[in-house]
Amino acid sequence: MLFEAIATNGCRSYLVGCEQTCAAALIDPELSQLDRYLTLAARDGLRIRYVIDTHTHADHFSATQQLARQLNVPVVMHRASPAPFVDLRLQSGELLVVGRLRLQALHTPGHTRDSMCLRMEDRVFTGDTLLIGATGRTDLPSGSAEALYESLFDGLLKLDPGLKVFPAHEYKGRTHSTIGKELAENPRLQRRDRAAFIQMMNTLNLTMPTHITEALRTNMSGGKTVAQMLAEAAAIVPFMSLAELKTYIECAKDELIVLDVREKDAFDSAHIPGARLLPRGQLELRVNEELTDPTRRIIVYCEFGRISTLATATLRQMGFHGAVALDGGMKAWREAGYPVTPAKVA
Ligand SMILES: [Fe+2]
Repeated sequence: MLFEAIATNGCRSYLVGCEQTCAAALIDPELSQLDRYLTLAARDGLRIRYVIDTHTHADHFSATQQLARQLNVPVVMHRASPAPFVDLRLQSGELLVVGRLRLQALHTPGHTRDSMCLRMEDRVFTGDTLLIGATGRTDLPSGSAEALYESLFDGLLKLDPGLKVFPAHEYKGRTHSTIGKELAENPRLQRRDRAAFIQMMNTLNLTMPTHITEALRTNMSGGKTVAQMLAEAAAIVPFMSLAELKTYIECAKDELIVLDVREKDAFDSAHIPGARLLPRGQLELRVNEELTDPTRRIIVYCEFGRISTLATATLRQMGFHGAVALDGGMKAWREAGYPVTPAKVA
């Protein structure tokens, strides 16, 4: 068995591969590490056959959908997953065949309704059902302390005590644990009385994960994150530096149109000299009257350089092939001490 644990902040993903056949499965991949998984698989001579989420993640952005599209392989989740892009939905006890390896799904609702663990040879990937020295929380959407109690004490913890535990989160750098070690030492598992366990889980008062709304939106729907939208726009537009634009304004301002895509009040308070106003929200509807020559070079800016990237991508898609985004925004322009209109009063 080829085995690789990939840590991203507190999240853990796992790449498991069959040495004899080079088939592999990737468990709980995270969007920011997409290229790393592919590189690791290539380095080990593995072909990823399945991309698996152990549950609907609320704290990070899953890469399963993107990887599945790139690799032309199925996204695997438990049958209870709400995500419409899941290709292969497992039920408890079913096996995934990865070369000579067998990954067995074990439905363990509690952290989420669609949580599953995956058992393979001497180990079990426990997702957020069982962590080292802790359990997954049960206060997020579809979580249930009652269900977690049953999943743990009537399911997962009855497996062989020698099974190695590889969780989806680990914050202290430990590689793994075992079922037996967790039963003996995990503080949360010492509450073996059902009512006491449920009461403990329901009174943990944990802070909400950052990006929870966006993570649930994208992981449940297959939609894009804001960062993805910006990265996709940035990939199809050229940029101009602040200093380059300043030189143009001083020496050759007739060669380009400087387009401010912020709102009118921001434009009125201060803008780049000679800039025209066309708010992002009105771009498509007013572009034909405002920008009559599609061959002109158009430098687009906003306050921070993000909305202008989206606007530039839109313009280029509409045929304005001379549209360029400013690398930075009005904020950086002001901080650089470059000229503004109306002129700054000292
Ligand atoms: Fe989770």
